[in-house]
Amino acid sequence: MEENCGMQIERGVSLKPYNSFSLPAVAGTLVRIASDADVRRVVDDPVLGSAPKFVLGGGSNIILTRDMPQIVLKVEVRGIRLVEERADAWIVEAGAGENWHDLVAHTLAHGWPGLENLALIPGTVGASPVQNIGAYGVELKDRFESLDAVDLVTGRTQTLFADTCAFGYRDSVFKNALANRTVITRVRFRLPRPWQPVLGYLDIERRMAETGIHAPNAQQVFDWICAIRRAKLPDPAVIGNAGSFFKNPIVTPEQCRDIIGRDPEIVHYPLPDGSIKLAAGWMIDACGWKGKHVGQAAVYEKQALVLVNRGGAIGSEVMLLAGAIQESVYGRFGIRLEPEPLVV
Ligand code: EPU
Repeated sequence: MEENCGMQIERGVSLKPYNSFSLPAVAGTLVRIASDADVRRVVDDPVLGSAPKFVLGGGSNIILTRDMPQIVLKVEVRGIRLVEERADAWIVEAGAGENWHDLVAHTLAHGWPGLENLALIPGTVGASPVQNIGAYGVELKDRFESLDAVDLVTGRTQTLFADTCAFGYRDSVFKNALANRTVITRVRFRLPRPWQPVLGYLDIERRMAETGIHAPNAQQVFDWICAIRRAKLPDPAVIGNAGSFFKNPIVTPEQCRDIIGRDPEIVHYPLPDGSIKLAAGWMIDACGWKGKHVGQAAVYEKQALVLVNRGGAIGSEVMLLAGAIQESVYGRFGIRLEPEPLVV
């Protein structure tokens, strides 16, 4: 490790422990970012300042296929606090390096509910706006107030609001125009008061019917979501994965009718704008992929949308498997599946 103007520069760092798929790759240079000032030190450095950067959060939404020549900035900004208690909302701020699920649990324990449907999503707070995480009827954008980000050219901290973030389905400006141009250091959440549960999702309705609880509190919703996710999604601490590997494709009603004509069983959801979201997991499952593998990269047995590392997988095996799945889904349904994690 080198020390440079108070900045710790690490060389030749294995990224295996820093990506939830546990794929092997080495960062030539890695700098840990604990504050906005740390980003400014990198920007002002005569060598690092002009070099290409890669911003690494919890590493739970990336597929590493090679070593990283860029300067890896590992975001480790900490802290969770209530910044404002409005009549209509609690505003909570969290450091980008905080673990996402810990934030959900912390807010609930402090009496600021609203994030419970997003429990157990792997990754960090800073990554949550990047892909506008979502689950069980709630997306990050529904609970978003603003964020602070440090520009990687000017070193200036800016506060960005939802309009600038351009949130879409698993998408935002940080995956596009601002990708690796800015480091998100803090995110503020708006948790509406009075709290209203979001229950309109089949898995949750099932829990309500089973338990007879029709007006659950936030803790009950949290517990249900944790149980639902644990039942069908692998824990990355036990078996490497990056959550859903493909996005659920969105098609026109005509395309959907065409597919239903051939496959009446296909799981699909109409969206408010008239388009239709198809369940990619169902399509992959229908093509018989559950449990299939390329080397040590495999399709999870309980949820075909998730690819897993059976131990020792490398990025190219994951991508070979993903390519074969895309080809077979295209062959049967005429739909091109798009990977959800970032492939590097
Ligand atoms: N299905 C199958 N076979 C499978 C997988 C799914 O038939 O192998 C069917 C299910 O029975 C269900 C439908 O497909 O009828 C959809 O499955 P599920 O409800 O599990 O949700 P999903 O579409 O697979 C999405 C998100 C998840 C999120 C859940 C719950 C995407 C890409 N994925 O999954 O997000 O947790 O909804 O809201 O939008 C993630 O992004 O990493 C993630 C896990």
